[in-house]
Amino acid sequence: MTESFNHIEKVKGELNLSGDKSISHRAVIFSSMAKGKSVIKNISTGEDVLSTINCFKNLGIEIENSNKELIINGKGYKGFTNPTQNLNAGNSGTTARLLTGLLCAQNFDSTIIGDESLSKRPMDRIIIPLQKMGAKIKSQNNFLPLNIYHSPQLNNISYELPVASAQVKSSIILAGLHCEDITSVVEKIPSRNHTETMLGLDVKRGESGNTILVSKKNYPVASEYFIPSDISSAAFFIVLALINKDSSLRIKNVSLNETRKGFLNLLEEMGAKINYENISVSSGEVYGDVIVESSALKNINIPGKIIPNIIDEIPALSVAGLFAEGDFIIRNASELRKKESDRINSLCYNYKKLGLDVEEFDDGFKISGEIRNKEVVFESFNDHRIAMAFGILALLLKEGGKVNNFVCVNISNPDFINQVKQITG
Ligand code: S3P
Repeated sequence: MTESFNHIEKVKGELNLSGDKSISHRAVIFSSMAKGKSVIKNISTGEDVLSTINCFKNLGIEIENSNKELIINGKGYKGFTNPTQNLNAGNSGTTARLLTGLLCAQNFDSTIIGDESLSKRPMDRIIIPLQKMGAKIKSQNNFLPLNIYHSPQLNNISYELPVASAQVKSSIILAGLHCEDITSVVEKIPSRNHTETMLGLDVKRGESGNTILVSKKNYPVASEYFIPSDISSAAFFIVLALINKDSSLRIKNVSLNETRKGFLNLLEEMGAKINYENISVSSGEVYGDVIVESSALKNINIPGKIIPNIIDEIPALSVAGLFAEGDFIIRNASELRKKESDRINSLCYNYKKLGLDVEEFDDGFKISGEIRNKEVVFESFNDHRIAMAFGILALLLKEGGKVNNFVCVNISNPDFINQVKQITG
């Protein structure tokens, strides 16, 4: 389905967004592992988290939605039951990679499958360390489906991540929760830290990066979670309000975790007027209201080491960069090619459609020149963040624009269109 967007005059008001996708996945996983009843408030309404929920239902966990709360009755250590069907991770890399770490420690065999996009995303990054721990995994040349066989025992390991990835780190941690001895995961460049924060793991910080320590004694217990709103969904509305004239927007209870705030910090350096109010903490996760108003932005040099902290926000950031003074350049971001689509290619393709000068690199791209083409139809590449980036860009263009296959936004934010209407009248 193609979605049409008309130019908007201004952005005003307040938004409540559903829970952060990364934190929601982890709350469902830890609640399903723990023994007894956990309650999750403000869970993500996106399809990705639904994939995780359905996988755990298939593993014998009772999960019910009552009064906007998710109630999970976990079965405790190795309490999952043999699934009757393949576990379908859908479009969700977090589901596939984190579940693999958990399933290789269970007393049964299982198979993880996914959709076309997920089946093209690399799994060797988790297979290699998990096999070092003694996991028995068979793949299709390091892609899904993954057959995970019961292995009598997992061993602890010390592992330095070759690529900054929270999914890989978390997959090893989930396996490490089933070992008596301590597993240590070293990351030279910090990636999002929700897993270690929510589990309360010991993290040694050094000049050469972080070392995360985990063993069976850190196994999760039943809890009550409040999931802060998703900063990656908020990113699109923040850019919309910053670029539009006479605009101001408050987004309530947004996740402000230090490893996810890179996007806001960068925008502030670019000249964005951003304020924070009502700061709180839940399950170790910091959140608060983000208030933004129209600002004149300037492009700046984006340092390579913050890329893992802004990786999901780069599509939104590039839209801000297009309207900012100077050329937008992003490098050191080759991981973008391994997301729901090859995001370097998807972004360059769409910016070229506008008639801009676009230079594509292996690890990034540069946008310069002027918008020369009108009434453009953008491609989502079936990637929710590409769809939303070009949705807001179309709202900012005088002639508006269209985005093909827009329905993929349901992966992270099924309410996107309603929320746009709410703040633009
Ligand atoms: C995620 C980690 C990131 C991110 C993804 C969610 C997570 O991926 O891009 O959307 O929840 O752990 P990588 O760990 O592969 O960088």
